[in-house]
Amino acid sequence: MPYAHITGWGMVVPEKVLTNDDLSQMVETNDEWIRSRTGICERHVAGEGETSASLAVEASLRALKVAKLKPTELDLIIVSTSTPEHLFPATACLVQDQIGATKAGAFDLLAACTGFIFAVNMAAQSIRSGAITNALVIGSETLSRFVDWGDRNTCILFGDGAGAFVLQADEEPGGVLSAVMHSDGSGGDLLVIPAGGSKHPTSAATIEEGLHYIRMDGREVFRFATRVMARATKETLESAGLTLEDVDLVIPHQANKRIIEAAARGLKLPIERFMINLDRYGNTSTASIPIATVEAIENNRLNAGDKVVFVGFGAGLTWGALVAEWTGPLPSERRVYPGWYRFWARIRSLLLRVVRLIEGILWGRHS
Ligand code: UT7
Repeated sequence: MPYAHITGWGMVVPEKVLTNDDLSQMVETNDEWIRSRTGICERHVAGEGETSASLAVEASLRALKVAKLKPTELDLIIVSTSTPEHLFPATACLVQDQIGATKAGAFDLLAACTGFIFAVNMAAQSIRSGAITNALVIGSETLSRFVDWGDRNTCILFGDGAGAFVLQADEEPGGVLSAVMHSDGSGGDLLVIPAGGSKHPTSAATIEEGLHYIRMDGREVFRFATRVMARATKETLESAGLTLEDVDLVIPHQANKRIIEAAARGLKLPIERFMINLDRYGNTSTASIPIATVEAIENNRLNAGDKVVFVGFGAGLTWGALVAEWTGPLPSERRVYPGWYRFWARIRSLLLRVVRLIEGILWGRHS
């Protein structure tokens, strides 16, 4: 039975930065309140032309370069997002087309901020079963497009960005060791975008009421988060046959520094064992764990052989954790330039559209 190793990683955030001082010009808040209550100092927000798919493509190409894997070798692409480009098609299909992953099946997964953990687990299980060899998992969000910039309860929290992992099959033991996934839909109303789906399709009335924006009961979500983070971490370690002493680094969902500190207290682990970078990115939802992972690697806090726990919570409600033995790229002499594939993918996509047009004319659809 093959093991599912994490062999590539990449992240990207939009260039535009929004500081706490910028926000204090927009709503009644201030830098001191935001820093002390959340730990956030600034966040990145998407500019014109930047979307969940464009950020996902960028992060993916970086991850593929690290793994030395061609897009054409991918079997599966999962995009975890709560801010897809459209209700359909899936953002994953747009990514598949733009990177030229010619043989990959692609779909989106929605489990809010926990989504990246769920998606990595799904990809790992597919590899472990022997069904596939190479997978790309992306967490990508443009939450700034769904934030009510007049609501100080939510607009101070969120940021945009994307992160990606490449997972590959290998006979060498290691990689994803275990994961737990949990949900409680009875808390669905605590963090929700009420309209724009099939229950309340967009209308003048839903827009008038602002139902297309994120609504959150911050205190309740806070209470829920502090309850589940430590519990999920212990559960996944137990099912991997590991203990807290084995853990080199915990990479939690970056929602609020106080939530992470509460998890550290609950686990009786020093806070230094936790990766925290929300001060510069805010809460990028499902992208926060892969973004924090890339920074942990760049800062030498995560190295081959380390045991790392990813743990998160979010809307749904959902929560989960995953433990992995960190691998790094599989040994390979070859050089891969995934960026080239983006160029050829564009030409391929255009040709496919032209062929579809010609077929339509030949079969009479355009007559
Ligand atoms: O990925 C999951 C996404 N969601 C979360 O992780 C959210 C989890 N919740 C939180 O992080 C925290 O609940 C918040 C950061 C959202 C709020 O912090 P809090 O310590 O729970 O504040 P609070 O809601 O209890 O509000 C305390 C006070 C209130 O004033 P009063 O009623 O005590 O007079 C608020 O009106 O702070 C006020 N307040 C603000 N003041 C300045 C709320 N938002 C702000 C603000 N600036 N932005």
